[in-house]
Amino acid sequence: MSTFASNAPVRAMLVLGTRPEAIKLAPLARALESDPQFEPVVVTTGQHREMLHQMLDLLRVEVGFTLDVMRNRQQLSDLTARLVKGLGTLLRAQRPDVVIVQGDTTTALTGALCAFYERIPVAHVEAGLRTGVPDNPFPEELNRCLIGRMARWHFAPTERAARHLAAEGIAAEQILTTGNTVVDNLQWVLAEGLGSCAFHTTRRRVLVTLHRRENQGERMRGMGRALCRLAERGDVEIVLPLHKSPAVRDALLPLARQEGIHLVEPLDYPDFTATLAGCDLVLTDSGGIQEEAPSLGKPALVLRTTTERPEAVEAGAARLVGTDPDAIVAATAALLDDPAAYARMAGAGNPFGDGRATERILTQLSEDFAADVPAVSTEPGPYSTA
Ligand code: UD1
Ligand code: UDP
Repeated sequence: MSTFASNAPVRAMLVLGTRPEAIKLAPLARALESDPQFEPVVVTTGQHREMLHQMLDLLRVEVGFTLDVMRNRQQLSDLTARLVKGLGTLLRAQRPDVVIVQGDTTTALTGALCAFYERIPVAHVEAGLRTGVPDNPFPEELNRCLIGRMARWHFAPTERAARHLAAEGIAAEQILTTGNTVVDNLQWVLAEGLGSCAFHTTRRRVLVTLHRRENQGERMRGMGRALCRLAERGDVEIVLPLHKSPAVRDALLPLARQEGIHLVEPLDYPDFTATLAGCDLVLTDSGGIQEEAPSLGKPALVLRTTTERPEAVEAGAARLVGTDPDAIVAATAALLDDPAAYARMAGAGNPFGDGRATERILTQLSEDFAADVPAVSTEPGPYSTA
């Protein structure tokens, strides 16, 4: 392992494959690039194709290696197999000093697993989020738990996430509460200048995104029917950037016929940020948007039965509405028709960080590599009889 003591830069490999990983690892990639103590290399697995590529240039992420694993309507086991093979081969050839993964995707899980097999330490960004329900979100809850068993560094975005990790037996010195890098990136994009807002209307502006696997099929069609009922009010315009997943499109493309609903292709990050900043409220099953909406003072109605981000709900910035169409219509109408309730949610604030998560992560990695901290603990574990 390189250490700063050995004067060689630390070779940090960032493994990312989907849209949210690109967004949340971009600030770290940029910071590592400008720090001479590190030699970063970004690997894109291609778990996503168009939705990933539309991010990387805009976020100024320079890519070192690209795999091309995406297949139409990919099954989790096939995707996992392709990723393990590709990443295993790459890690054996490159042997970085640390592998950095983010979140809970199949790319993150397999990046951590292959690094573990190669005995390369893993840093997990956005560690410790839990719903406590192993298959909700599916398969992300279990993915994130499994990465937690393999990581050497656990960068938790909130105190709550850090507590989850401590309760699972992770040593305190391996956990750092950092804030979420999504806030760092949002601030960076706002400072760079906004893109264009997709709303052009004097009606109330409702931004919607839906994509989760556990919602696909009849449940997502029901959510679509709820959106039609909202559009029929006549005072609302809904913009829905459609995820590229064919399963999502099967469920939601029929909404194109509804007056007041605009289906658009996935927006690039500056345009999405501008659209979020320009909406009145957001209805979403996305993880990242639950974090961004409170940062921009936009009430978020979370169309899921669980959330691993309860901080926004507790702060009053978000509401967990569930997936039942009547509940979605009622919760949205309640917010649109009650200015006081709306103002309370819009003013609740952002519990996900101060924009300095990247700095904290980099400082911790710097200090640990400088001190030559063992990559993987060789101490007797809690079940040792020694
Ligand atoms: C994945 C992540 C999910 C994350 C989401 C972000 C897993 C298991 N799931 O889910 O945690 O919230 O990304 O959006 O890792 N497709 C394209 N072009 C693209 C992207 C996707 O055509 O740019 C289509 C392909 O047919 C692909 C399908 O969408 O097979 C599903 O993509 P996949 O990455 O398997 O799942 P997501 O639902 O996107
Ligand atoms: N996003 C985007 N364009 C869009 C929709 C979303 O740039 O058209 C961004 C959004 O700002 C957030 C991220 O994509 O940062 C969320 O990705 P997604 O909902 O696909 O995944 P999740 O966060 O649920 O894992």
